[in-house]
Amino acid sequence: MSGLDFAQAPPPARPLRWLLSVPAWGMAAGACLLLSGDTALSSRWSPHTIALVHLFTLGVLGNAMLGSLLQFLPVAAGAPMPLRRSPAWLHASFNLGLAVFVVSMTSMHRNGLAVASVLLAVPILVFAAAALPGLLARGAQQVLRSGLAMAVTALALTALAGALLVAILRGEAPLPLESIADAHATIGLLGAVVGLMAAVASVTLPMLQGTARVPERWLGGWIALTIVSLAVGVALRIWSGQQPPLVVSALLPALLFVGASLWFPLRPQARRNRPLVWSWRMGTLAVGAACVIVLAGTTTPLPASSVILAGTLGIAIGLPMMVSGMMLEIMGFLAWIGLRRDCPRGIRVPGVGTLVAQRDKWVVLALHLLAGATLAGAALFPALLARPAGLALLIAWAAVLATQLRGLARARTFRRAHFPEAATGT
Ligand code: HEM
Repeated sequence: MSGLDFAQAPPPARPLRWLLSVPAWGMAAGACLLLSGDTALSSRWSPHTIALVHLFTLGVLGNAMLGSLLQFLPVAAGAPMPLRRSPAWLHASFNLGLAVFVVSMTSMHRNGLAVASVLLAVPILVFAAAALPGLLARGAQQVLRSGLAMAVTALALTALAGALLVAILRGEAPLPLESIADAHATIGLLGAVVGLMAAVASVTLPMLQGTARVPERWLGGWIALTIVSLAVGVALRIWSGQQPPLVVSALLPALLFVGASLWFPLRPQARRNRPLVWSWRMGTLAVGAACVIVLAGTTTPLPASSVILAGTLGIAIGLPMMVSGMMLEIMGFLAWIGLRRDCPRGIRVPGVGTLVAQRDKWVVLALHLLAGATLAGAALFPALLARPAGLALLIAWAAVLATQLRGLARARTFRRAHFPEAATGT
């Protein structure tokens, strides 16, 4: 696979622990909705809704981002990740922090929120401090690395703003909560999550979905536009208190991403990985629908249910569907890298595409589409559909976890059958 340097890949166990945490938090989000019902879909400011938002933004998207960056930076971007063994404690602190955050937010426990924001922010800042020097150094793939650097920096800024929001909620910082929450959410979702997906997609769309190459100047132009839009929008939101400038300035790069993300796979040069193509497409459509609802809100004030619907389409359905499709492809790579590393010369290891079964990927997509439809319905009729949506979500993410574990089990079976002396690996 052109442009990928597998010799630089970290031991597969390192990114794996993050990627296996993704569906666990997806299932926790389903359980949370099943238990709390419509309380979690009542208003964007309700503590249960904020807890549910972070089960997706930190649990599902955060673990997927940090896990895939551990793999992608050295292998695809030629940027070293000098973290050696520390990802283990970073992972523990990040995920313990999220658990404490969810419990403290739903019970509005002030000290618990303070502890959670430290346990969450420290690993994100350590990760950024480790990744940025390599990403900002001069060298090949400058545009790709600047996109990754933007996403990592945005994630660090989001964590700092999150810690500030906790200080405001604890009454320690007399600052405007709503403006900072909007800035925090926009930098996190557009700068970090969509920023990372745009940069990674410039490599994976051609490689995994058989599309044409994404021109570097397009990606470079989009990165510059996103940085300027966020800087202007956030400054106006915090200093003038006005929300529409932030919404409009953020929607421009977001809608350009949606457009390109739908357009390139429409004209594939090679048909491959169809389950990925469809989870990416359906996920992008959900993100696009969320953007259109938010855009409508700049002309007429949106009812609470439309705000919840937009948040649900973007944060609980669209972005996670795109991420889970990509993650199942990365799982195949990690299992394959583990086999190739341990495999004595002369033994042919199974291909990347065979370790995580295509059939399983189609089942995961179908269950995510069902959960997505129920979730969208729950945003409009929470009393009726919140709990069924929680159950559908729990099942969909349990299927992701089962598919990951079946892929790893296939690699282990091959290892036992062909070189049992190395059976201890992944
Ligand atoms: C260190 C990690 C983080 C902490 C401590 C944190 C904390 C918070 C807090 C306290 C709020 C609620 C403010 C209020 O009462 O309205 C909030 C809102 C929000 N956060 Fe975070 N956050 C963190 C990371 C993230 C990340 C990485 C993302 C996205 C990628 C994110 C997305 C959001 C969104 C979308 C909201 C708005 C929720 C709403 O208005 O319904 N957060 N965050």
